[in-house]
Amino acid sequence: MGILYNRVAEQIQSLIREGVYREGERLPGVRVLSRQFGVSISTVLQAHQTLENRGYLEARERSGYFVRLPRVNTPVPAMARSRSRPAPVSARDMAVDLCSQDQQRMVPLAAAVPHADFLPLRQIQQASLWAARQGLDVLDYSFPGKLVYRRQLAQRMTALGVPVVPDEILATNGAQEAIILALRAITVPGDIVAVESPSFPGILQALEIAGLRALEIPVHPTDGLSLEGLQMALEQWHVKACVVVTNHSNPMGARMADSRKQQLVAMLEQAGVPLIEDDIYGDLPHTGERPRPAKAFDRTGNVIYCSSFSKTISPGLRLGWIVAGRYQAEVHQQKYFSNLATASLPQLAVARFLEQGGYDRYLRTVRQRYLEATERLRAAIGRDFPEGTAVSQPQGGFVLWVELPNRASGTEVFRRAREEDINVAPGRMFSTTDKFEHFLRLNGANPWSERIERAVQRLGQLTAEVAGRPM
Ligand SMILES: Cc1ncc(COP(=O)(O)O)c(C=O)c1O
Repeated sequence: MGILYNRVAEQIQSLIREGVYREGERLPGVRVLSRQFGVSISTVLQAHQTLENRGYLEARERSGYFVRLPRVNTPVPAMARSRSRPAPVSARDMAVDLCSQDQQRMVPLAAAVPHADFLPLRQIQQASLWAARQGLDVLDYSFPGKLVYRRQLAQRMTALGVPVVPDEILATNGAQEAIILALRAITVPGDIVAVESPSFPGILQALEIAGLRALEIPVHPTDGLSLEGLQMALEQWHVKACVVVTNHSNPMGARMADSRKQQLVAMLEQAGVPLIEDDIYGDLPHTGERPRPAKAFDRTGNVIYCSSFSKTISPGLRLGWIVAGRYQAEVHQQKYFSNLATASLPQLAVARFLEQGGYDRYLRTVRQRYLEATERLRAAIGRDFPEGTAVSQPQGGFVLWVELPNRASGTEVFRRAREEDINVAPGRMFSTTDKFEHFLRLNGANPWSERIERAVQRLGQLTAEVAGRPM
């Protein structure tokens, strides 16, 4: 009997893991399940009790059993404390190739790239076929971008509280190019740029190629960039620009509240420092409304807004945009001088997808899937990593920031994991200093599978070895 109810519990749990029953859904009634599994009602009830204890089910009076994903009590990493000095960036030393082709055989827990399963593949294929049939329209240069694309973006941005016209929008090769153009337009080599700490490595790399110095400002795990830290930095240093991922930062997953975005914009305006806002994860809140960007509080054109469709539609389209405010002329010139224009076909395809409402429909489902996927990964880390591990609780996007116990070296875990074809991002990539040496960033945008589950278990064991801690 004991073995039987455990077996039923395992089967239901694996159906939940496979996503057959999703978070918040009601399980079929006990009678139905007893017929389905060919067991008695009391066996089903015992299986339910087991799953409730494991955190996978919730009994609601008179309504039945509902699926929930186990919440772990793993703490969230603390905010970095140390005050920083401006430092030249040498991202080359830190850059680890996380997404090249030969990485494809590895367990993909490193690059912040969604597994194809999450992407709207069929819809974008159809839109691309349609775009390819648009004759001459696909074949010419499209500086500053296809009007149909920029019109769609203008509509979306206006709905977010940023009333812009298509002429204020420039199509770019992803958000990375947008950030590079913005930095080039407003700085000269040697300038100091305030960045988040931990920071998305691509931003540090953008600083490096422009010969800029990074001044790291701590990021709070839920509130985002420390405004107090930024204020002190502005008083002490001659900062020329500030780059912030305001919504669901990478790697922390933090989101600044509207009031803090408003303060950020006002503080930088007063200091005469342009804000480069990277809003690439803004469309991916796990719950609730799409948050507004800081640009919505910009009354003077001091915010340069950058974003892309890499985290939603596909990174391979290489399609983003920039709204450069009062720096528009310089930014547009940088774009024209560096590569003339962005490819037309992806712009036409994405414009079509947006115009037909497909993008909004897709977002409605994928947000919930990212919540489930990151929660599942969090739960697995909570279970399989040694005590003392802390994990971020992102409010959107799909990456997790993991602090290892005993200040164990993330680089060492990364190296050992790589030998076993498991890829993770070592914490040292996220700073110009070694202050995040004992961190890892994990990509949660993978459908759950035994392969991922085993990889997380193995990472936990490797961490225990490196930390010198028993499991
Ligand atoms: C915060 C952040 N900004 C920018 C980028 C680069 O985006 P894109 O592929 O649009 O150039 C990424 C990609 O990982 C990111 O996480």
